[in-house]
Amino acid sequence: MRLIHTVSELRSALADARETAFVPTMGNLHSGHISLINLARRACPQHSGPIVSSIFVNPLQFGTGEDFNRYPRTLEADCAQLQAAGCDIVFAPDVNEMYPEAQIYSVQPPLADTLCGAFRPGHFQGVATVVLKLFNMVQPRYAAFGKKDYQQLFILKSMVRQFNLPIIMLEGETGRAEDGLALSSRNGYLSQSERAEAPRLYRLLRAAAQRIESGDGEFSSIEQAMADELTTHGWQVDYIAVRSQATLTPPKANETDLVILAAAHLGRTRLIDNIECRLIWQSRDVARWH
Ligand code: PAJ
Repeated sequence: MRLIHTVSELRSALADARETAFVPTMGNLHSGHISLINLARRACPQHSGPIVSSIFVNPLQFGTGEDFNRYPRTLEADCAQLQAAGCDIVFAPDVNEMYPEAQIYSVQPPLADTLCGAFRPGHFQGVATVVLKLFNMVQPRYAAFGKKDYQQLFILKSMVRQFNLPIIMLEGETGRAEDGLALSSRNGYLSQSERAEAPRLYRLLRAAAQRIESGDGEFSSIEQAMADELTTHGWQVDYIAVRSQATLTPPKANETDLVILAAAHLGRTRLIDNIECRLIWQSRDVARWH
């Protein structure tokens, strides 16, 4: 495995590569990230091109007062994990390499000011812009992203479609700890008691998904019940939202493929999670919806 820090070195390493598979990250890797490396390899058994992963904590996607400075940087341990997973190239540019001049051009994604975007102004613009730059540097055939960051995945898929990028997007399921907590580099911020409390988020998402799957279409009452339960246990809720998988907007009558998205703070730590579910609409619900 090669560790590369500059764009020019990356380009020459990939000059003859065909069908590169790419896994962008901000480092501090856990098994959720590594599952994306495995996904990149599995998705195309005859895939013979290199697997490239990037590690870059992107200042553009952090707001003022967010955790850019304290975000964990663990390059050595990350490289060991990537090597063990069969990654061929780690691209770890520094901020000057990625942004040698002020980034004036940017991608303005749709839905960038809803859900997480409503609480993190500029976040998805920063994500889409850095991912477009990384795509141009690596020029991958495949790129793998996790469903853990559901809105991010949605936005990046639509960016690839809208700009006709010749990239096949691979979607990884959310890796979880045994108690259900979605793996996240930010889990390391949690105190012992917060860590014990944290799995409640996914437990409640599962319960809410079960309500929907059993035919309950009262989304606002489901959202409110979940928010109340979290608040009671000391969380500060940013949002709980039942959305259409296809549009990430509130579901229309008869839309069956839904996702419940949640973001909430436990102490100083902001956690997000989501769960997909299906609603079989009853005719009385459809009638009431109109
Ligand atoms: P980061 O949070 O490091 O995540 C890198 C990739 O790993 C993303 O596709 C994310 O969805 C995925 N991931 C994170 N936790 C996961 C889990 N528990 N299970 C499965 N996949 C998981 O997301 C980013 O970095 C950045 O925004 C980035 C896309 C690199 C742009 O800077």
